[in-house]
Amino acid sequence: MKKVILSAALLGLFLVSCENDSPNIDDTVEDFQEVQIDMSDFSLYVDQDDIAGKSANSIEKCVSMKNLEYRLSKNKGLAKKMYDIEYNTRKAIALKNQGKGKPGGGNGGGGSTPTIFEGSITIPVVVNIIEQFSGQVTQNQINSQIRVLNEDFQNNNSNTVGVPSEFAGLVADVDVAFVLAGVNRVVNSKASWGTNDAMKIPSQGGIAPTDPSSNLNLWVCEIGGGILGYAQFPGGSEATDGVVIGTNFFGETNAGGIYGKGRTGTHEVGHWLNLRHIWGDGRCNRDDFVADTPSSDAPNYNCPSYPTVNCRTADMTMNYMDYVQDDCMYMFTAGQNDRMRALFVAGGPKESFVN
Ligand code: ARG
Ligand code: ZN
Ligand code: CA
Repeated sequence: MKKVILSAALLGLFLVSCENDSPNIDDTVEDFQEVQIDMSDFSLYVDQDDIAGKSANSIEKCVSMKNLEYRLSKNKGLAKKMYDIEYNTRKAIALKNQGKGKPGGGNGGGGSTPTIFEGSITIPVVVNIIEQFSGQVTQNQINSQIRVLNEDFQNNNSNTVGVPSEFAGLVADVDVAFVLAGVNRVVNSKASWGTNDAMKIPSQGGIAPTDPSSNLNLWVCEIGGGILGYAQFPGGSEATDGVVIGTNFFGETNAGGIYGKGRTGTHEVGHWLNLRHIWGDGRCNRDDFVADTPSSDAPNYNCPSYPTVNCRTADMTMNYMDYVQDDCMYMFTAGQNDRMRALFVAGGPKESFVN
């Protein structure tokens, strides 16, 4: 586990010159008087090896990371944008942990730099359905998906009672409410849409997002290839912002089997709010940039028993950002909550949702 490195004001001042090559635009001297940010472990790129993980299970592919690589290859500015978001996220969390800065969106005292956003967050959700026949995706699926998102992000998942005592103190109520704001449907016979965002482009038979600065857009379609879903991380283009979920894995379904409880939505919305996979998409030395999640070397599948030890610590297999089956994932941590909330401060990529 790597942590943001904090240093005293004096040391920070000596390091100002080293930071000049950092592409971050918010590197003001003022920042260094408050906190020093270590970005040395930050990477947007994932080895194909690491993507494959330890299981040959064909239904689970890390397509959010695959889609990120595709987007990085098409958009030169994206890597810098994501670096800046990561830098600001680490700064906000470091300031919060030091008790400095003012809580974003609140009237707290302290420094001038906002730390994470504190307070309830409401996210309107627009569901964009591309179905093979009219009514294929049921109202029941839509309603149950919204309900599951609310349960999971408000710590009301009934499975959470099973959390091992080692992790019980870390369980977070993320305090995000999701409200259905609209449903759009088109019928299209295409049997598999892939992961290159065609379902978001009208000229390709898809549906364009509804104002992504104030809505979470979900697309429901047959992705194909046994893929459950994928998300776009913060920093990406507005035209493709949101989450894609395979028809059988959207909301509560029988067809989804062990993935039929709506938790693909929870996992993907976690990515949309900047969470990485809990194993950091790499071996033990790769992190998910969250201090209170134990490191692991690969995804876990099915319903692992506790303790499942990797990298010398018990894996938090029950975290929404692992790859276990839907009814065996039931927690976000306090550290993941901070990471998500750092997006909502003034100047942050999700600020428009709270203003
Ligand atoms: N494989 C997908 C992704 O990486 C989703 C995994 C969701 N897991 C689940 N139990 N529903 O984004
Ligand atoms: Zn994922
Ligand atoms: Ca971690």
